Amino acid sequence: MQTDKANTWDKEASPSPASKSADMPAEAQAKPATSGGLDKLVIQGGQELYGEIAISGAKNSALKLMCAALLSEETLRLENMPNSLRDINSQIELLDHLGCTIDCKDDLMAINAGTVHTIDAPYDIVRKMRGSILVLGPLLARFGEARVSLPGGCAIGTRPIDLHLEGLKQMGAEIILDDGYVIAKAPAGGRLIGGKILFPKVSVGATENLMMAATLAKGTTILANAACEPEISDLGECLIKMGANISGLGTSTITIEGVDSLHSAQHSVVPDRIETGTYMMAVAMTGGELRLKKAKLAHLSALIPPLERAGVKITEDNDDIIISRDKSVPLKGTDIMTEPYPGFPTDLQAQFMSMMTLCAGASMVTETIFENRFMHVPELARMGADITVQGNSAIVRGAKTLKGAPVMATDLRASVALVLAGLVAEGETIVNRIYHLERGYEDIVGKLSACGANIQKVH
Ligand code: EPZ
Repeated sequence: MQTDKANTWDKEASPSPASKSADMPAEAQAKPATSGGLDKLVIQGGQELYGEIAISGAKNSALKLMCAALLSEETLRLENMPNSLRDINSQIELLDHLGCTIDCKDDLMAINAGTVHTIDAPYDIVRKMRGSILVLGPLLARFGEARVSLPGGCAIGTRPIDLHLEGLKQMGAEIILDDGYVIAKAPAGGRLIGGKILFPKVSVGATENLMMAATLAKGTTILANAACEPEISDLGECLIKMGANISGLGTSTITIEGVDSLHSAQHSVVPDRIETGTYMMAVAMTGGELRLKKAKLAHLSALIPPLERAGVKITEDNDDIIISRDKSVPLKGTDIMTEPYPGFPTDLQAQFMSMMTLCAGASMVTETIFENRFMHVPELARMGADITVQGNSAIVRGAKTLKGAPVMATDLRASVALVLAGLVAEGETIVNRIYHLERGYEDIVGKLSACGANIQKVH
């Protein structure tokens, strides 16, 4: 199988030393100075949104599914892959480095890890995106050893990986940290050993890494206090198609009976609930009506009540969500607190806060997952929002209007929150540093402009 990235994937995701800067997060530094780094979005606010948006496959599922391919020497075929995302490109770069052959066409990706020739995931690739730490479990499980760079912190918090490493140690792995690298070895015989792992804290990534590692371990692994996110169930379902023996998906106790090997499979990536929720809040802010195609409302159960309380109408039509808001009726403020699934997702907190800036009355937004996830606050304030941060809570006092301004943000969801604000603000908003957006939102400009937004990307 040939690697055919040029077909559909943006090759510009490769590192550019020229773009390094001490005050930029590693993920940002990896972006070339000639692309998203200098590009910006120019938005003229005030248009209502009407039309249809096709929801992409979930980035946060796709990144892990790609790592699952490492568990087998046979080909994993993934459908409904989100296209042209920088994070996906970074994962392709890493798998390519390990020796996988990758074939991409439109939303299809085939990965064959039968040709892997190294178990070394280098700093230069891992530093771009934390999701690359998810190669650790699969490499260790299949090859009995792995050397993976520590991903480091990022703009939204320190984000350690101690839970991943502790879990692997409990499966018999010997782990040392050397020169910024995790060096992991399976016990004698080269195979991890199943056991009961109780996570002291709910972690999406640690649950995924351990679940993948356990598929090829000797005996049974029980993951207790596991994360229940739909992306974890999606990964588990794909692993089952590959021959893994897993039960308890979607609950906080996942049981995995190890098998000797996994085989080829085909799997369609779950719809992106965060992209869906983002467009739901876009129409809540602008007014109008959107049909979000191939979405999954059931995965947004924590978003629906606060949106309805705010004054938005939501209905389901087979796989589509129809969301509308009559602009003549003011939005009402409501409180939220982020929590692990099925609680309110931290990845929708910034967008929700952006919406709250236009709601009548005061609302409180509490962030419990990451310690530094209010970077959108000063930027929203520049657009006229009235927000006071106290510890991990923010009190938002709604205003009638926002005013366009040049803004920028240092992470993906904060950036999109500013785009939403720009869609309703009076006048022109310029969102700088859009490489963050390009990490996780497929064709956001195309999707929004097709529904009437006045938004364009300029260099
Ligand atoms: C995933 O990150 C997502 N990333 C994040 O999405 C998402 O915000 C997060 O889950 C929570 O839902 C991907 O799926 C690629 P965690 P992850 O481990 O797995 C602490 C986006 O915008 N922790 O559940 O890294 C950690 O610091 C991104 O798309 C430890 O202390 O998140 C955090 O406070 C951003 N030790 C909490 O747990 C560990 O070993 C939850 O993190 C691991 C995590």
